[in-house]
Amino acid sequence: MPSDQTTVFPPKYLQQEETLAQECKNLISTLPKEKGWLASHLYQYQGFWYPARHLQGVISCQKHFQAQDSDIFLVTVPKSGTTWLKAIIFTLVNRKRYPVAKNHPLISHNPHDLVPFLEIKLYADNQIPDIVSSPSPRLFSTHLPYVSLPESAKNSSNSKLVYLCRNPKDTFVSLWHFTNKLRLQEMGSNSIEEVFELYSKGISLFGPFWDHVLEYWKQSLENPDRILFVKFEDMKERPAVHLRRLAEFLGCPFAGHEEESGLVEEILKLCSFDNLSGLEVNKTGKLSSGEENNVFFRRGEIGDWKNYLDAVMVEKFDRITEEKFRGSGLVL
Ligand code: A3P
Repeated sequence: MPSDQTTVFPPKYLQQEETLAQECKNLISTLPKEKGWLASHLYQYQGFWYPARHLQGVISCQKHFQAQDSDIFLVTVPKSGTTWLKAIIFTLVNRKRYPVAKNHPLISHNPHDLVPFLEIKLYADNQIPDIVSSPSPRLFSTHLPYVSLPESAKNSSNSKLVYLCRNPKDTFVSLWHFTNKLRLQEMGSNSIEEVFELYSKGISLFGPFWDHVLEYWKQSLENPDRILFVKFEDMKERPAVHLRRLAEFLGCPFAGHEEESGLVEEILKLCSFDNLSGLEVNKTGKLSSGEENNVFFRRGEIGDWKNYLDAVMVEKFDRITEEKFRGSGLVL
């Protein structure tokens, strides 16, 4: 749970190919490569794009992670609202152990320290974590596309997977801001035009966005008891309805007395953008990988893309989304 505030330079999230294990260096030398948004390159593995450091974590968790039936996975494309849903799921599932009160773990920990990423945290940097006896249910998150999930996570029929997605234009704008904030000053910023070209070709962290979302959408239709598909916009517009739906899905529905005591609203308030972004830990803390906690909180609104995308970009985005999702029943 504790966040490690040690300062490493350059920060771990910018580490390049030189720091990788030889096995991973050998692999990436065979992979398609494109310009990165943060680290210098992205590599294409099993159809999706990764910085080298993340790729090492992907390979390691594919090899070593063993799912348990009680596990809960939160899966997202970066910038879909992962931080928010981590806070919500952690609070919901642990509400007996950590009642929503003044000393709740979220007051002193960033949500990413409470629900760790498999490939970016637990299995990053060649670590093999000892998580066999972590308290149940174990909560994990990942940005991995369905095709690349560790086999045991795909096959453990009783574990639960929540997939959160967001409007592609808002996800893109959020990623553009996020990666620019994480770039060192001497690296300069990426222009929106430059990264738009990459994004629309699918070249972004864990992209193509559309393929990622579509895979999980189809899986959620085939396995509704196992995979819950949630939209950021629905959570924003009707948070209480979707929190109850989440609780039902995760097998911990709100009891009558919890409803009467206003617990649904309390959880939503604790995990709200205004509350989390105003906490000292999120204003001044850092993740062990070097990102400042405040980069995960920007506006948290629907439709901010209108302030950044021009008509040509919007037309192209909408055309790609329409083509990719045609016939799937998915609307974002
Ligand atoms: P914006 O950049 O549009 O503001 P992720 O957590 O997947 O990295 O996504 C980050 C996005 O979620 C950012 O979107 C961020 O502001 C928003 N966000 C973070 N915490 C939130 C919360 N509690 N409620 C709503 N949105 C939140």
